[in-house]
Amino acid sequence: MITTTDIVTVILLVIRCRSFRRLAVGIAIFIIGFAEYKTLIRRRSVSWGFWSPGEGRSGGASSTAKGGSRPNAAGGAWPITQQFKEAPRFYNSLNCPKIVGEDKDGFFCSDEAVHVAMTLDSAYIRGSVAAILSVLQHSSCPQNMAFHFVASATANASLLRATISSSYPYLNFQIYAFDDYSVSRLISTSIRSALDCPLNYARSYLANLLPSCVRRVVYLDSDLVLVDDIAKLSATQLGDNSVLAAPEYCNANFTYYFTLTFWSNPNLSLTFANRKACYFNTGVMVIDLDRWRQGDYTKKIEEWMEIQKRMRIYELGSLPPFLLVFAGNIVPVDHRWNQHGLGGDNFRGLCRDLHPGPVSLLHWSGKGKPWARLDANMPCPLDALWAPYDLLQTPFALDS
Ligand SMILES: *[C@@H]1O[C@H](CO)[C@@H](O)[C@H](O)[C@H]1NC(C)=O
Ligand SMILES: *[C@@H]1O[C@H](CO)[C@@H](O)[C@H](O)[C@H]1NC(C)=O
Ligand SMILES: *[C@@H]1O[C@H](CO)[C@@H](O)[C@H](O)[C@H]1NC(C)=O
Repeated sequence: MITTTDIVTVILLVIRCRSFRRLAVGIAIFIIGFAEYKTLIRRRSVSWGFWSPGEGRSGGASSTAKGGSRPNAAGGAWPITQQFKEAPRFYNSLNCPKIVGEDKDGFFCSDEAVHVAMTLDSAYIRGSVAAILSVLQHSSCPQNMAFHFVASATANASLLRATISSSYPYLNFQIYAFDDYSVSRLISTSIRSALDCPLNYARSYLANLLPSCVRRVVYLDSDLVLVDDIAKLSATQLGDNSVLAAPEYCNANFTYYFTLTFWSNPNLSLTFANRKACYFNTGVMVIDLDRWRQGDYTKKIEEWMEIQKRMRIYELGSLPPFLLVFAGNIVPVDHRWNQHGLGGDNFRGLCRDLHPGPVSLLHWSGKGKPWARLDANMPCPLDALWAPYDLLQTPFALDS
């Protein structure tokens, strides 16, 4: 039953996906046995810095933590070795709405607050810290911002919390534990999608993770900065029945996102009949969580993931299920709110330019990340627009 492909998949997961590492190691124990496992640890631990004695899983630091009964082979999470500077405090302008209900629950349920959801993990923490600064700095009501962070249930939530609090002592935020194990069951074992971290799928579960009183949220990836007031994006009108809004790109060849298996099976491809389906990037979305919950869209996304597991109907990971469920039915947002693709490839030579038109949000989607290129002293020209939001304290004292 266990094939070479499975083993390769596990190894790829271990290498590529930091927050998925402990699950992968757990599976590896069953596959390769404990003797080999010990060899693996000995080889890996030098460069990866995990398996330090005394590390354990995060425990009940989050309100939605799911207990600790699952097999937990590898102990601790990837430690955050980066230190971040404290951001300045940001104040509301005079005309901001007063949020009634002084207590924390009241604030996090308020419709007047602007709710933002992001994922947090040690691999992208530097990007997340920069993104938060960009949001606060351009918000006219920064004290009315409510941040909802989703972290892997296996991450050290108290460490993530401490990291955010030390840079943003005044930030209103919550951390929710995302059960990677439940979604990894749904991730197809094909090699390419194995390159996806389960945390990439957290955006499909926001309606379940966030308190049910939160009715609307702006989801943001961690590799972006805003240069405009997020309240404008959050206020996007969703019409009578749309569940989400995002910039859409109707010139992109939609065929490309799905396999021949998909297009040649009318039972599947008819899902796009009578819809003008266009590509959209799931890194920036305004989501009506009430409508999402009413329509049980999490389940609809999961159903496509089940089909993918059996039939391989697409190549990429977390994006196609969103396209299958929502493409053609979203409210288009001005392209200024997702100038995507700035990641390009890793180093100079494959730098991307801005798309024509105004800019409210810069998104380094793609393989390259501005922090990696800046550290390597090979930045792309546009990386200079990310650098002012970087709060990393000692850029060259990293251990990796
Ligand atoms: C989590 O990180 C903190 C440092 O903030 C550390 O003291 C603690 O031991 C870690 N907890 C676990 C369970 O690894
Ligand atoms: C889109 O791509 C497919 C193959 O990937 C091709 O057959 C089709 O002609 C393309 N359509 C357009 C409109 O370019
Ligand atoms: C489409 O669905 C029908 C009924 O569920 C089934 O009989 C048929 O074999 C399916 N066709 C394909 C191409 O999968």
